[in-house]
Amino acid sequence: MTSTYDLLNARLQAAFDAVAPGADPVLRTSERSDYQANGVMALAKQVGRPPREVAHEIVKLCDLTGVASVDVAGPGFLNLTLSPELLNDQLRALLDDPRMGRASTATPKTVVIDYSSPNVARELHVGNLRSTIIGDALARMNRFAGNKVVARNHVGDWGTPFGMLIEHLLDLGEDEAVASLSMGELKAFYQGARVKFDSDEGFKERSRARVVTLQSGDVETLRLWKIIVDQSVAYLSQIYDLLDITLTAQDAVGESYYNNMLDGVVSDLDRAGLLVESDGARCVFPPGFTNRDNEPLPLIVKKRDEGFGYAATDLAAVRDRVSNLHADELLYVVGTPQAQHFDMVFAVARMAGWLPEGVRCEHVSFGHVLGPDRKMFKTRSGESVLLAGLVDEAIARADAALVSRNFEGDEFSRTELAVDIARSAIKYADLSTERQRDYVFDLDRMLAFEGDTGPYLQYAHARLRSIFRRSTSPWNENESTFVLSAASERHLALGVLAFPEAFDLAFVSLQPHRLCNYLFDLAQRFTSFYEACPVLSSEGKLRDERLALCDLTARTLSLGLSLLGIHAPEQM
Ligand code: ARG
Repeated sequence: MTSTYDLLNARLQAAFDAVAPGADPVLRTSERSDYQANGVMALAKQVGRPPREVAHEIVKLCDLTGVASVDVAGPGFLNLTLSPELLNDQLRALLDDPRMGRASTATPKTVVIDYSSPNVARELHVGNLRSTIIGDALARMNRFAGNKVVARNHVGDWGTPFGMLIEHLLDLGEDEAVASLSMGELKAFYQGARVKFDSDEGFKERSRARVVTLQSGDVETLRLWKIIVDQSVAYLSQIYDLLDITLTAQDAVGESYYNNMLDGVVSDLDRAGLLVESDGARCVFPPGFTNRDNEPLPLIVKKRDEGFGYAATDLAAVRDRVSNLHADELLYVVGTPQAQHFDMVFAVARMAGWLPEGVRCEHVSFGHVLGPDRKMFKTRSGESVLLAGLVDEAIARADAALVSRNFEGDEFSRTELAVDIARSAIKYADLSTERQRDYVFDLDRMLAFEGDTGPYLQYAHARLRSIFRRSTSPWNENESTFVLSAASERHLALGVLAFPEAFDLAFVSLQPHRLCNYLFDLAQRFTSFYEACPVLSSEGKLRDERLALCDLTARTLSLGLSLLGIHAPEQM
């Protein structure tokens, strides 16, 4: 089906084109009328005529089928009110559309999304949360839009720490090390190695030598390295399952994957005349980047000690993703502190011709997760807070909340529900914050059944579903005619119809919080409707209509939440 927005937009576009080809109608849903077109002022400026005059001309030119009234307001805003016929037609079409009016794209793109990307052999901590949650929401939104998503979990699986980790593994004995790693004791393992490294000169020596052996490609050393990486990735998969994240073990394409491409990166940059020797390191100086003293800033590709750095790997990754994965779009969901790194990597990749103009390439940055004291979230002893513990705590609290609310199902379904609620609480709190901003990790607030929270939206959905469970007589969905006699009913219907443009607003700008805002608003529209309009106790056609509207609302909430990675249970 064609969404209401697209329908109106196409008609307005034709009228705008007739005045000046390509001018944007800037159509938006509006609180004042149903939709508002704000593009007239820019158009008037472009053609050098008075805006209100142009507005009236647009009204005359525009095919207004389905529009009950247009009103020219202020300096030239067009306020459109939809006709009852159009509303009915559009809502009826939604009844048969599982996509709630948002068609799949006609021109699918390949989108490579780099997210989660923790450093392995380190337990996941709260800092890894946002990339994982935001990246997964963007992956789901892209798949829904019809794009092909290639997820890249760019795990840090290479570099100097592996020297000491391998030596520690040998000290422990392979079997014991595997046993401890597979139980997720990554942090203890890492710390065990670290303590020895800092206190034992002999161990330090061995570790350094092991790094060299590892980098030289020694087969036995690589085998030991792989044990640590595989165990870490297996542990990651458990956490992803716990949080319902779609990343698989195949998506874990770590830094080491690019090792054999690094020499090529250096020699090709050299051949292109971009490589400069500076302090013994080989660097590229992309124009426009300077340090505090206004000196040109280098992107170090090969270090003085002949080792490759983080930037070299990312350059190889850009190349691989563009030429081997055929990416049309590259997204990097990584914290704001790495903004300059990515700006420089993208700039150098463009200079080298590895990143063609047509490929959209974006650092999807985000702020910090703060503790209750509004400082970086740390434990009392100053360590970073582990993710698994936080999720377990959220599940325990959600379960307690269900008990205190006298949840009626058995214990198994209660546990399952507690997991769903905990996931939604954590994910929604993260996603509903504008991503560049920091947010406070406050489990009580996140888990509240009231307010702008995940559980509140799940609860709104479950309430809608309970209407159908309580219904004793059947309803005939396909016979429903949407008359929308009550104001709150019409308001809710317009909310349902606005799903496609709300989705696109969030999707195109890579801002999941916009989808959250939409869903929260929709849930509130439903509450107002439900207070004002009897559903099950109304009769005949009115009952059918209201049930159909409830069904559409529930489906929209469920679909919208699923795109954020949140499951909407039937019952709560
Ligand atoms: N492992 C890095 C870190 O923990 C993040 C990697 C992000 N992705 C990338 N392609 N550089 O900081």
